[in-house]
Amino acid sequence: MRAARREDLPRLTEIYNYYVVHSPATFDLEPKTVEERGEWFAQFRETGRHRLVVAEEDGVVLGYAGSTRFRAKPAYDRTVETTIYCAPEAVGRGVGARLYAALFDAMAGEDVHRMVAGYVPPNTASEKLHARFGFRRVGVFTEQGYKFGRYWDVCWMERSLGHTSPHPENALG
Ligand SMILES: CC(C)(COP(=O)(O)OP(=O)(O)OC[C@H]1O[C@@H](n2cnc3c(N)ncnc32)[C@H](O)[C@@H]1OP(=O)(O)O)[C@@H](O)C(=O)NCCC(=O)NCCS
Repeated sequence: MRAARREDLPRLTEIYNYYVVHSPATFDLEPKTVEERGEWFAQFRETGRHRLVVAEEDGVVLGYAGSTRFRAKPAYDRTVETTIYCAPEAVGRGVGARLYAALFDAMAGEDVHRMVAGYVPPNTASEKLHARFGFRRVGVFTEQGYKFGRYWDVCWMERSLGHTSPHPENALG
């Protein structure tokens, strides 16, 4: 597990595009170019709230997990949305769990108050993974996405990070 590097981007794009084409897990409908994913990649840093970690085995990236901005307005700054994708040949081997462990370790002490994540049911691996890492199911938005000729629900989850911020107002809870 390590921080993502710019040279990982083609492989990260390849993993993501597999799910764009084959799965409702992402609501993107058309594969992204590496250049387009470069804009997404640009939000991540090696410090701070917005991180990207990759799992690498024998020089091959098997998956990634990241924490992205949740919504644009500044009062949302301390909420991040997590994202995680493993290569199709690497699912179900514990890579996702190791990626989330590395991501959350890396973020410990950062000024983040809530993590949120949404998955498209049925996705048992995602549901179990998030439950294992302390995400609580908040609710289901119904028929939010239209892909493969039908509507898909989104189940949203959240996870508290406690008051890790040096900002004094956080002490008030
Ligand atoms: C969801 C995903 C990241 C999970 O990572 P993973 O490496 O496959 O999962 P792990 O092997 O770490 O297992 C995590 C948990 O899910 C369970 N699990 C994994 N695959 C499963 C499957 N196919 N069916 C049922 N449970 C499964 C594991 O038993 C484990 O449960 P536990 O913590 O209760 O023991 C990965 O499967 C993936 O990339 N899926 C496709 C893209 C996707 O759906 N991304 C998430 C969008 S929200």
